[in-house]
Amino acid sequence: MARTLIKNGTVISPTGLSPADVLIDGETIAALGAHGFFDAAEQGADTVIDAAGKYVIPGGIDVHTHMELPFGGTFASDTFETGSRAAAWGGVTTIVDMAVQRTGESVQEGLADWHRKADGECAIDYAFHQIIGGVDDESLKAMRYLTEHEGVTSFKLFMAYPGVFYSDDGQILRAMQTAAECGAMIMMHAENGIAIDVLIAQALARGETDPRYHAATRPSPLEAEATHRAIVLSHVAGNVPLYIVHMSAGDALEEVAAARHDGRNVFAETCPQYLWLTLEETLQRPGFEGAKWVCSTPLRSPHDHRNHQADLWRGLRTNELAVVSTDHCPFCMKDQKELGLGDFSKIPNGIGGVEHRMELLYQGVATGQLTLERWVETCCTTPARMFGMYPKKGVIAPGADADVVIWDPDRQTTIGIDAKHHMQMDYSAYEGFVVDGKVDTVLSRGTVLIADDAYVGRKGHGRFVERGLSQYLV
Ligand code: URP
Ligand code: ZN
Ligand code: ZN
Repeated sequence: MARTLIKNGTVISPTGLSPADVLIDGETIAALGAHGFFDAAEQGADTVIDAAGKYVIPGGIDVHTHMELPFGGTFASDTFETGSRAAAWGGVTTIVDMAVQRTGESVQEGLADWHRKADGECAIDYAFHQIIGGVDDESLKAMRYLTEHEGVTSFKLFMAYPGVFYSDDGQILRAMQTAAECGAMIMMHAENGIAIDVLIAQALARGETDPRYHAATRPSPLEAEATHRAIVLSHVAGNVPLYIVHMSAGDALEEVAAARHDGRNVFAETCPQYLWLTLEETLQRPGFEGAKWVCSTPLRSPHDHRNHQADLWRGLRTNELAVVSTDHCPFCMKDQKELGLGDFSKIPNGIGGVEHRMELLYQGVATGQLTLERWVETCCTTPARMFGMYPKKGVIAPGADADVVIWDPDRQTTIGIDAKHHMQMDYSAYEGFVVDGKVDTVLSRGTVLIADDAYVGRKGHGRFVERGLSQYLV
């Protein structure tokens, strides 16, 4: 079995930085030692990587992606092959994608379909959450089965998109009760979809059809109200663990903070788009260009009734926000976003970004908004703990999978189409961004995927990860 020695780097964990060499035996981290402790020849290392001046971190874990998601009459444009390869380029070694049960379809069929899409295609390891698009007796039974037998222990429900993925409060309560009984996590798309649909109809009736009205019809109080309601329902359902996805609003974050202050198992994630992009610079661009940034929850303005971005950065520092994911859901402008020309409500919702999360969050380190430890914690370690993959994933320690990223703090990353990003999208939401730090080397279970600015991995290397229950509960 191949042995690899990573020498002279600085290993980062949520609890600190340590100068250490990392010895890898096959697919697993064998040992850590002080610089120079291991002799490469004595250890039989066939590969030696010099990480002097660089950081050595656990592979990134993106717990919210949508490869090939069916949405708005089309499909998210990255396949598991293209999306997982782009993820590897960005220092991600595990994704957790959202398998879909569409209304009227069985949960097991939806999951089997997702296995078929991903099997043999992925460059990196992958796991699944299950979207429950129709809560009924059958799907509740299936939730229990998936948790106990399929390694799928988290279920996403939608308070938005009536007629598509939407669950009403009664359905949500029943799904939460089932999850509480079997120890699963409920993930919530928290927006009041019924009220939003009224605002959308009113806007369209006034002739407000441009992408900018996407945000205007999804104001932050409707995110906060839904977040509050989800928290109340989770309480009534026996304190089921609740994880609010793609949080964009400071007022919604306040609801999570209050629940956490009460010692509740309520968590939230945000995404790089909410930390770095503003309404004015994106959705409000003239004409149809704003469609590039149509996603839900929407991007918000720093000049709203509060500065949401500042709230989110603070929440990340204080652990009111535990995780950063991308909600990677790419659609091309041509033929996809264009479905909403003349009617913003028909623009497929989603932004692609699986390739850029690590560097966009490292930019938070570079600008003094986040510590190195917190960068690793929110992007690597907590995602593994939150979703039952720790300590196999999310940590550089003996016995863990050798998912390792060597990070060069002295280089920069340019993002965009012009910089030839690797996602299957004809635009970038971050076009022209130049940020500090760059992926140097990526190893997945001991195999090098990225080195010397080249991809040397292969499709099919990635394996399905059966997850356990959350290891992050209070
Ligand atoms: O706009 C988004 N977020 N698209 C992906 C689906 C979802 O709601 O996460
Ligand atoms: Zn969602
Ligand atoms: Zn999503």
